Amino acid sequence: MTRTADHLEFEIKDALLADAGAQRIDWAAREMPVLRLVRDRFAREQPLQGVRIVACVHVTTETGNLARALKAGGADSVVIASNPLSTQDDVAAALVAEGIRVYAIKGEDTVTYNRHVRIALDSRPQIIIDDGADVIATLIKERKEQMGDLIGSTEETTTGVNRLRAMQQDGQLSFPAIAVNDSQTKHLFDNRYGTGQSTIDGILRATNLLIAGRTVVVVGFGMCGRGVAMRARGLGAKVIVTEVDPIRAVEAAMEGYQVMPMEKAVEAGDLFITVTGNRDVIHTRHLERMKDGAVVCNSGHFDVEIDLAGLKLIADGPKLLRPFVEEYRIRSTGRHVIVLGEGRLSNLAAAEGHPASVMDMSFANQALAVEHLVKNRSRLSAGVHILPAHIDQDIARLKLMAMGISIDEMSDSQRAYLGGWELGT
Ligand code: ADE
Repeated sequence: MTRTADHLEFEIKDALLADAGAQRIDWAAREMPVLRLVRDRFAREQPLQGVRIVACVHVTTETGNLARALKAGGADSVVIASNPLSTQDDVAAALVAEGIRVYAIKGEDTVTYNRHVRIALDSRPQIIIDDGADVIATLIKERKEQMGDLIGSTEETTTGVNRLRAMQQDGQLSFPAIAVNDSQTKHLFDNRYGTGQSTIDGILRATNLLIAGRTVVVVGFGMCGRGVAMRARGLGAKVIVTEVDPIRAVEAAMEGYQVMPMEKAVEAGDLFITVTGNRDVIHTRHLERMKDGAVVCNSGHFDVEIDLAGLKLIADGPKLLRPFVEEYRIRSTGRHVIVLGEGRLSNLAAAEGHPASVMDMSFANQALAVEHLVKNRSRLSAGVHILPAHIDQDIARLKLMAMGISIDEMSDSQRAYLGGWELGT
C-alpha cells in the first residue's frame, strides 16, 4: 500500500494492521526500560529537534520503540527495512499511524528493497542509522553530492562495521560513523544472547524440530556463534564448531565443542547454522555431501553464507514444505537439503529477531549515538568511531537498575592501587 495521507508518504503492506502493531510495540516497551529513560529525556530536552534521520533497520517491535524515541527527541525520521524478510507489517503500519514515514513490506523483492533505499536518500538525511551499511554504500556510490548534508552515521551490525572499515581504508568515509555494534553493551549481549536465542527460535518456529540428540554445526565462533552454540547445547544438541580463526577455534575447543573443518563436519551434521559474516561458508561441494534431509540456515547479516545460487544449479527445487522451509533435491545423489528462510537471517525471517530485553541496550546505544553525533556535530573526525566508554557504562548501570541488581563500588584505596605501580610483592 502506497499512499500520501496528510502529506505523509509511505509504502507498507496494510495500514489496517496499525492497532495490532501498536499493541505489540507497547508489549516490547515493557522490556526496554533503558530506551524508555532515553526517550523520556529526549522528550524533555529535544536534542534531535528537526534533524532528518534515515533508519535502515529490521522493522520490528523493538525498532518501533527506537523510532518512537527518535520522534520524541524531535527527529524527522524515515524508516526502511534492512532486510527483505524481516519486516513486521503491523509494526510498519503502527509507525505510519504515528506519523513516521515507513517503506517496508515483509517479502519485498530486492528491487523494491533498493528502491526504498533510494527513496530514503531522497529525504536528504543528516543522520543515517544503518544495519549492514547498504544506505551508506549507496550514498557513497550514487549520491556523493548529498555528503555535505550528513552529520554522520551509526552502524548496528558486525558486517556493516566491517564494510565501514573497508570504506575508510579505501578513503571513502568522509564523515564520522559510529560503530554501535562495537559498544560492549551491544555485541556482548545482542550478538550473543540475542542471536543465540532468536536463531533457535526461528528454527523451531519454522520446523518444530527436536534439537535434543541432533548434531548441530555452528559455522563461525564470533559473538553470534558463541550464543548459538551455547543455546543449541542447552537444548541437548551435539555441537560442532567450524572456524578459520585459530584463537576462536581454541576457545571453542576449550568450551567443550568439537572443532573440525567444514569438509569433515558436513558428514556429521543434521542442522547447520552459519554466523560468519562471510560468503560461501557452505559451498555446493559441502551441500552435495550432507546427509539426506540435512537442514541449513543462516543468521549472518547477508544471504551470502550458503551458496544458494550454486545449489540451484545442482539441485531440483525449491519445494516449499512449510513457510520458510524449502527442500532441494541434489540431482547427482538424489539426497535432499532443506534451506530455511531462503538463506536470509532465519531469526528475523521465521521468528521476531532478538528479544526486546537485549535490543533495549542495542537501541539505547543507537539513540545515544545519534545524540552524540548531533551534539558533537563538526567536532568528530571522519572515520569509524566507537561511543565513549562512559556511555557504555551508563547503559549497563541503567540495565542493572532495571533488573533490580546492585553491585559493589571500588574503594578509594583500591582505585589508587590499580592506578599505581609502587606496591608489588
Ligand atoms: N536485529 C536482531 N533482532 C532485532 C530486532 N528484534 N529488532 C531490530 N533489529 C534486530
